[in-house]
Amino acid sequence: MAKSAAQTRGLGRRLAAALAPGDVLALCGDLGSGKTTFVQGIARGLGVTESVTSPSFVLVREYAGRHGLPVYHLDLFRLNRVGDLSAIGYDEYVAGQGVTLIEWAQKMPQALPRDYAELTFAISGPTARAITVIPHGPRAGQLVHDWKKRTGSGPGPFSR
Ligand SMILES: Nc1ncnc2c1ncn2[C@@H]1O[C@H](COP(=O)(O)OP(=O)(O)OP(=O)(O)O)[C@@H](O)[C@H]1O
Ligand SMILES: [Mg+2]
Repeated sequence: MAKSAAQTRGLGRRLAAALAPGDVLALCGDLGSGKTTFVQGIARGLGVTESVTSPSFVLVREYAGRHGLPVYHLDLFRLNRVGDLSAIGYDEYVAGQGVTLIEWAQKMPQALPRDYAELTFAISGPTARAITVIPHGPRAGQLVHDWKKRTGSGPGPFSR
């Protein structure tokens, strides 16, 4: 559970420390549930110096993290068909050597790669957000394990 936007950014920042090139995160949850806020924390943690704003209208924004690590921030909210994905170069992002963060990934589950971490954000109060994570694949499992260690959440299903 994150009790404020700052806490959500903090969780993202600590997840960043566990991310590696090629990792894909599916960020799911309703409007205003904190997906972009979380990405701001990840970007900060990865050493992105630019300010991160929602890619809802531009669909994708690219940033450079530490050591030139590419950070791809996608938003599928305004897309309706899987066929629309090729227009934004989706496959190249997901298969590439950057970190790919996909808001509204639940709209096109069939487009997700074989290995990714699914994070779901839910509004549970005016400034409270429940964040749950499900790893899909061995790499995502490792990533979630590392994140858990860094946030000190202890054993059990990972829900914050
Ligand atoms: N604990 C919290 N975590 C994240 N955001 C919070 C929290 N408490 C309040 N907020 C506020 O909620 C809003 C979350 O907006 P944000 O753009 O991150 O959501 P989003 O899930 O990306 O929405 P969208 O689906 O429109 O892209 C922000 O205005 C943020 O300040
Ligand atoms: Mg957003």
